Amino acid sequence: MPIYFQTRWLRVIVPTFVVLLVLAIGIAYLRTPQATLEKPPQDAPYRLSSSSIDVRIEDLLARMTLDEKIGQMALVEKNSVHDVDDIASYGIGAMLSGMGAKPEPNTPSGWLNMVGSFQRSALSSRLGIPLLYGADAIHGHSNVFGATMFPHMIGLGATRDADLVERVARATAEEMEATGIYWTYSPNLDLPRDIRWGRTYEAFTDDPTLAGELGAAYVRGTQGSGSSMNVIATAKHYLGIGAMQWGSSSNKNFKIDQGRTPSSTAALQEEYLPPYRAVVDAGVGSVMIGLNSWDGTWASYDKNLITGSLKGDLGFSGFVISDWYAVYEHSFTQYEGLVKSINAGVDMVMLPFDYKGFLMNMRLAVKTGDIPQARIDDAVRRILRAKFQAGLFERPLASESELSVIGSSEHHAIAREAVSKSLVLLKNDQDLLPLSPKMNHLRIAGSAADNVGRQSGAWTVEWRGIDGNWLEGGTSILQGIKNAVSSSTTVEYDREAKFVSAKRANVGIAIVGEKPYAEGWGDDANPSLAKEDLETIDRLRASCDRVIVVLVSGRPLMIADKINDWDALVEAWLPGSEGEGVADVLFGKQPFVGKLPLPWPASVKQLPISVDGKTKDGTKVLFPRGFGIHTEKR
Ligand code: BGC
Repeated sequence: MPIYFQTRWLRVIVPTFVVLLVLAIGIAYLRTPQATLEKPPQDAPYRLSSSSIDVRIEDLLARMTLDEKIGQMALVEKNSVHDVDDIASYGIGAMLSGMGAKPEPNTPSGWLNMVGSFQRSALSSRLGIPLLYGADAIHGHSNVFGATMFPHMIGLGATRDADLVERVARATAEEMEATGIYWTYSPNLDLPRDIRWGRTYEAFTDDPTLAGELGAAYVRGTQGSGSSMNVIATAKHYLGIGAMQWGSSSNKNFKIDQGRTPSSTAALQEEYLPPYRAVVDAGVGSVMIGLNSWDGTWASYDKNLITGSLKGDLGFSGFVISDWYAVYEHSFTQYEGLVKSINAGVDMVMLPFDYKGFLMNMRLAVKTGDIPQARIDDAVRRILRAKFQAGLFERPLASESELSVIGSSEHHAIAREAVSKSLVLLKNDQDLLPLSPKMNHLRIAGSAADNVGRQSGAWTVEWRGIDGNWLEGGTSILQGIKNAVSSSTTVEYDREAKFVSAKRANVGIAIVGEKPYAEGWGDDANPSLAKEDLETIDRLRASCDRVIVVLVSGRPLMIADKINDWDALVEAWLPGSEGEGVADVLFGKQPFVGKLPLPWPASVKQLPISVDGKTKDGTKVLFPRGFGIHTEKR
């Protein structure tokens, strides 16, 4: 042994130092931002809109370094970017506003400026590849204060009107484009079989055929026709979401969200894949993989589902993204999670917290051969194709002059129409509804009567929504009713139905329902009306000849033992900003045409309910899917 290794501490220190040095050099090498190579000329084929998309993709790909390719696969949450120049230095390809992340101030110009500053950084990079910015515009461009808030998807499912859904999607896309956002995480094709799930309202229906029809209409409205795309739509969450088992959640705070979907080949072919086939045929640009597991395998790691069924069998040629932290959640190391998901077919990774680690791990994985270069090239080709199809190179930045489309009267009119068509009349004794706008005396009560925040639900400015009257440009249901009745009608309102006058009213309308909730935070073992709401209804009944209950909720509530006490019952879902759309139908300006988009259980013992309406305990549901009493206009 050499003399200098003879002392004990030297025997430890020297090798440790050497190892640390090698590691530090390796890490420094792996973390280096993209190399400073020459900028391609202005007339490089990929920059010219006159070149075909295939030529543009291949020209650009041939110029890209490995780092630049990996950067395109990163989908970075905006709050994790502390230095805007990182977008150029690390060649980041995509960003998002997750969980309602927004600019300060949250105004249309605030959004335009925020996205613009990120975009300008991307454009200053060597290749100048524009950034793709995504948002959860799931019921309108709903993170934006002042945007039109359409009904949540479950309400659109009740309309069963593909043309209307297409118009809602187009209006939403127009509001997004005005802020420079060309990518939405919608439509949702989940199939809620168990309404205890807190995301039930994000889906159109539990019926695969209807989900496919409305999903395809939504894609057409968002993207436009032909091979170019106005705004890129994202079908989510692939696959089997909505059919997870109660109690199987992998998140200790939740019960069913992020849980386990039991797999079966028949269900895959007959229930879960058909809606995706419909949107793939409609040309959907991207697909988001869910946070569930498919019989034990996490969806983001499931090569059979992603590369086999989606890209292979359905022929999906767009790009696949993972959901929030999904690739890391269930792996021992982030490296392992990335290798599994990219090799399974994920093309772009949603990175809520740290993009530098992603770039480093990916580089290592390609250098070691754990992720083949061909997989990277395939992913980047798919992403670039979408960017070219969306015209990002030609219109990376939006302009202030387009902002007036946000919350325009045309869009509010579409939202109002959607609300009126989404209402489902479940009970109507002695044809109580529609009411006459000329009636004498009406009493209104309930926690959701004068509450635009509650009627808009979650994913409205804040991820988990805000209860109360705070939204700009919206009309509460109470206000809608006041606007609908004649000047001679007396309308009394008290949230708790504590009316002072002893004089009975002809009719009382109780507008009650769920407080806003998002994702697994809304998992609920027994979705029902709050004690406060039930007491309000009872008080209202005591002071009115007849009582109508209007439910504002993201799902069917357990009301089987209450419904006999009510003269009429209307499910209004989460209608969004247009309370007037509800009043239009209550007073006969528009007919009731909505039909239940999913079965209404009599009790939670019946859950889950199968696609053909069979309950778990074999008893009859309160109302089957498709039920809804129709009325004529007045
Ligand atoms: C949700 C997705 C959403 C994403 C980005 C996730 O928590 O599951 O539906 O698109 O966040 O906000």
